[in-house]
Amino acid sequence: MAVFSESDTLKRVKPSPTLAVSAKARELTRQGKKVISLSAGEPDFDTPENICDAAIKAIKRGETRYTDVDGIPELKSAIVDKFKRENGLEYKTTQVSVSPGGKPVIYNAMMASLNPGDEVIVPAPYWVSYPDMVLLAGGTPVFAIGEMETGFKLKPETLEAAITPKTKWLILNSPSNPSGAVYTADELRGLGEVLKRHPHVWILTDDMYEHILFDGMTYATIAQVVPELYERTLTMNGVSKAYSMTGWRIGYCAGPEPLIKAMSKIISQSTSNPCSIAQWAAVEALNGPQDFIPQRSAIFQKRRDLVVAMLNGAKGIHCPTPEGAFYVYPSVAGCIGKQAPSGKIITSDEEFAGELLQQEEVAVVHGAAFGLSPFFRISYATSEIVLTEACSRIQRFCASLK
Ligand SMILES: Cc1ncc(COP(=O)(O)O)c(C=O)c1O
Repeated sequence: MAVFSESDTLKRVKPSPTLAVSAKARELTRQGKKVISLSAGEPDFDTPENICDAAIKAIKRGETRYTDVDGIPELKSAIVDKFKRENGLEYKTTQVSVSPGGKPVIYNAMMASLNPGDEVIVPAPYWVSYPDMVLLAGGTPVFAIGEMETGFKLKPETLEAAITPKTKWLILNSPSNPSGAVYTADELRGLGEVLKRHPHVWILTDDMYEHILFDGMTYATIAQVVPELYERTLTMNGVSKAYSMTGWRIGYCAGPEPLIKAMSKIISQSTSNPCSIAQWAAVEALNGPQDFIPQRSAIFQKRRDLVVAMLNGAKGIHCPTPEGAFYVYPSVAGCIGKQAPSGKIITSDEEFAGELLQQEEVAVVHGAAFGLSPFFRISYATSEIVLTEACSRIQRFCASLK
C-alpha cells in the first residue's frame, strides 16, 4: 500500500496554533463543557447590508465567471482610490493585486521573491502565519523581539542588528496581531532611517487592522511616511477585519510592478481569481459609506477598556493597554512558578493556558505561539457579557494559584 508522506517543505511547517486552540475548545464544548473561546481572530459584527446587496446584485447581473486572475479593474480602481484617500499613496492599477484574503497576498509575495537562504525579519510577537509562510516559500525567518516595556514594537537598533546581507524582507504589522501595538509616524520614520541604509531590504507592511484604532490615534503606513522606501515596499491590506468580511476572502496589495507581475504569475498557476462575487462586494466596501467603521471601533475600544481593567485585577497578570486591533497581550510572569489546584506547577504560558482551559473553561492562545513568552492573547471580538464572564473566570483562576 502506498503510504503518504509529507513533502520536505511541509515538514518544516507547523499547523496554525490558534486554530488548534479553537479545535480543542470545540472538543470540550462537544463534551458538554461551557467553554468560552477567546481565540478567534474575527469581528463578531455582520457584513454591512449595502455590501451584501452589492454581492446579490452581482450574482443577478451574471458576474459569476472567471475574472482577471489578480482582480477586476473596478476593484483595482477602488483600491487605488482607497490608498490615495486614506494613506496619501499614489499607485497605478498595474501596481495592484487582489487575492482570496490577506493571507494569500503575503504567501504569494514570499513565493514570488524568496530563494533558499533568504532571510525575512519577523518582529515578535508576530502573527502566527508569518514564519511558516516564509518557511513554505523556502526562506528563513529571523526574529526580532519587541519588548513589552517598549509597547512590543520593533526598535531601530533591534532592526539594525537583525539585518544581514541575506535579508530579503522586513514584515511590519500595525496595528499588531497579537499585541494591538500601533506604530506612530515618528516610530516608522525611525525604522525608515535604518532601512534607508540597507537598500537590499524590502518591506511588507500588513495593514489589515488599519481601521481598528483607539484613543484618537491617526494611522501611518511606512511607504507614506518614508517615501524613499516606496520603490521597495509592498503595502498589504484587505476587507476582512475593517468590513467584517472574513468569510468573503478578499485581500489586496500595492507595490512595485515587477513584484505584482510575479505574484500574478503564481496566482495564475495556483488559485486563479478570487471569487467574482466577493470582488464586487469589496468594490462596494471600499467605495461605499465608511461611517460604521468608527462606530465599530468605538465598541471595540469599550471592550478593550473592560478587558484591560479586569485582567489587571487578576493576581499575577499585567495587561498593557493596546492602541488598535481587537487583541490584548497580557504578561503572566507573575503566575509562573505557582501551583494550580490540580497540583501542577505552572512553568510556561502554554501550561498557564492549558490549566486555565481545564479549570475555568476559558480558551486563550499562549504567547509562545506568537514568539514571545510568558504572555497570552485574548481576542475581545465578542460581547461585553461574555468578556465579563471570561475575565471573572481568569481572575478566579489566578486567585487559585498558590
Ligand atoms: C495580521 C493579520 N494579517 C493578515 C490576516 C489575514 O487576513 P485574511 O482573513 O484576509 O486572510 C490576519 C487574519 O487573522 C491577520 O491577523
